[in-house]
Amino acid sequence: MSKTESRWKVPLADVVLGSEEIEAVTQVLKSGWLSMGPKTEEFEQRFAQFLGIRHAFAAANGTAALHLACEALGLKEGDEVLCPALTFVATANAILYTGARPVFIDITGPHDLNLSVADAAAKVTERTRAIMVVHYGGYPCDMDGVRALAAKYDLKIIEDCAHAPGAVYYSQEGPRMVGAIGDVGCFSFFANKNMTTGEGGMVVTKDDELAERIRIMRSHGMTTLTWDRHKGHSFSYDVVARGYNYRLDEMRAALGIVQLRKVKAGNTKRREIILTYREKLKNLKFIEIPFLGAPEGSTHHLFPVLLRDGVRRADFMAALAGQGIQTSIHYPPIHRFSSYLSLLPFDHRLPVTEEVCSREVTLPLFPHMSQNQVQQVIGAVKNCLK
Ligand SMILES: Cc1ncc(COP(=O)(O)O)c(C=O)c1O
Repeated sequence: MSKTESRWKVPLADVVLGSEEIEAVTQVLKSGWLSMGPKTEEFEQRFAQFLGIRHAFAAANGTAALHLACEALGLKEGDEVLCPALTFVATANAILYTGARPVFIDITGPHDLNLSVADAAAKVTERTRAIMVVHYGGYPCDMDGVRALAAKYDLKIIEDCAHAPGAVYYSQEGPRMVGAIGDVGCFSFFANKNMTTGEGGMVVTKDDELAERIRIMRSHGMTTLTWDRHKGHSFSYDVVARGYNYRLDEMRAALGIVQLRKVKAGNTKRREIILTYREKLKNLKFIEIPFLGAPEGSTHHLFPVLLRDGVRRADFMAALAGQGIQTSIHYPPIHRFSSYLSLLPFDHRLPVTEEVCSREVTLPLFPHMSQNQVQQVIGAVKNCLK
């Protein structure tokens, strides 16, 4: 179904690609070099500059980026990795791919849907090797707390920044770009993200050794790329590890370069819409708005609300859908999925995650939402909760 045939007056998320994106992709098609090459290199350099970090590697998608991060850190069977359950399943799947086990940690509370550092500390064992944080909805986690925990137990830090390209964390030491704080940062450019290449991702690190492992694992464990050989830099290659084909293609890299130029402006627009939402919805008896007191610096990927006083979520979502407004749930918690139940201790409970998740609804948010659409959502929410 095309976007114009959509049943939604206000979709949950939306993307607008303009003449710049079309031109950039067309140029690649005309150039005849389609696999990883000069555009990918340029995208990586620009992304590294954007974050102020030494290394950036484009990947096929955000999940591949996370898997590469786990591989580069040498995670393996018998290892444990702390991570939240209130995230997309790819976060935990990437850990499982290496043979390591995700150990789920609870969230802080209804006001802050990011992981609780206190619960993470309580779940460290002698097998814990890393902590994978997720900046939920683009709101930075308590990275000072995470870094202190990691330093105490010698843990590696992976940042899942799928929601957070351009987010700033105000650390005790000053502002830091999200993704450049831990050992490895991973981004997704999936179609509903703040910047998109359709499918795509990026892995960033300041560590030269990790960078080399990521580079090799991304392309079959090979020491040189087709592009290097095309440039005449080398004639052959060795295979030094059992790697993957997690490369990005040139069309997507060209799209990414244009989208990267627009991401800050898009994030600002999202913030303006969220301020209106908050202003108009914050005094409603039946909903609670997380992250109200959060510091600036979010990319505002999502606008989650929590229903209160027994309002039934299915009824609320159906009533909004009836008015042409699409909503979603971020997220059904991973530890309750069938395929995860068998991996977890029998009594695995995350009381705060479970309570908050049962009440969460995500309202529409995208940078080019019109004032009229924002007002439609606000009006419909108020109507449904009367
Ligand atoms: C928090 C989170 N982590 C990881 C991913 C995986 O990214 P991708 O869909 O690009 O593989 C996503 C998004 O889809 C996500 O929202």
